[in-house]
Amino acid sequence: MRATSVLVTGANGEIGHGLLARLAAEERSIVTLDVLPLEPALARLVRREVTGSVTDRGLLERILAEFEIDLVFHLAALLSTRAEFTPTTAHHVNVEGTLTLLEFAHLEGQSHGRPVVFLYPSSIAAYGLPDLATKMRAGLVREDEWNTPTTMYGCNKLYCEQLGRYYARHYKQLAADPPAGRVDFRSVRFPGLISAVTQPSGGTSDYAPEMIHAAAKGKPYACFVRPDTRIPFMAMPDAIDALIDLASVPRERLTRTAYNLTAFSPTAGQICDVVSRAFPRAAITWHVDEKRQRIIDSWPTDVDDSAARRDWGFQPRYDFAHAFDEYLIPTIKDRYQV
Ligand code: SER
Repeated sequence: MRATSVLVTGANGEIGHGLLARLAAEERSIVTLDVLPLEPALARLVRREVTGSVTDRGLLERILAEFEIDLVFHLAALLSTRAEFTPTTAHHVNVEGTLTLLEFAHLEGQSHGRPVVFLYPSSIAAYGLPDLATKMRAGLVREDEWNTPTTMYGCNKLYCEQLGRYYARHYKQLAADPPAGRVDFRSVRFPGLISAVTQPSGGTSDYAPEMIHAAAKGKPYACFVRPDTRIPFMAMPDAIDALIDLASVPRERLTRTAYNLTAFSPTAGQICDVVSRAFPRAAITWHVDEKRQRIIDSWPTDVDDSAARRDWGFQPRYDFAHAFDEYLIPTIKDRYQV
């Protein structure tokens, strides 16, 4: 008998850290796949750690032979800034890796006879507003508006949402006995995420977490976007809750395969003010990188997440004030002993 388990790709990343802790607390059997060995604290939580790429079919075949996977969290990706320097590598990992995982999930479902729930973090980067004036006029953006991303990462995320919908609803639709429905694909478009315990690398929303962590460590920080820059954000515990909650909703309640999520939309200047009050040694300056600014200016100031609230009861715990007062500042102070 193969052991029933959850597969988490990109487990070493920011979302992976929080997710593994939560799944382990629920006593789930966890299999991880990441290009880097897991940090020791994470490795202790998992049943099997596989080191390698999500594009390696051989590795996935070995996981299939040994484990009955009924839930996949496919987190592995190159983020938006990094992907602009290596677009074909980003496409390989972000798109071909996702296709390989979807096919793996389909084969798992075929072999154990139950749908495999496939959770996919998409992104605010799936949107692309043409200029700042349009962004400022757009208000709350719904899932099907402005789907014209300017980044390789955004294109990858938007396309993979479609690939997931294809696997869930239309897979091999011309076959005599179409096998659709073995992959139960569910995706959330995360806003920028801010964790108190890890820092992102290679993203464009990174200015917010970088500013907070630098201030807590007493290091100077030159923010690469203007103070009036506004995009939505969410505290990491809410992001983990959203993934766990969406994974367990009965399928018939879901009217979409991709849902907007958000919690608060501060400007970079407002983040700077809160951080400077909490960490008086903060030395934040503004050194705008026009090219990264253009990427952020193509992402909405806010998104309409009413579909997620209606269909599966999405309700973030942390608004802007609570995220900082109750989660980020106390946890970061504790972490850096300040
Ligand atoms: N935080 C991500 C990035 O900036 C967006 O999903 O790339």
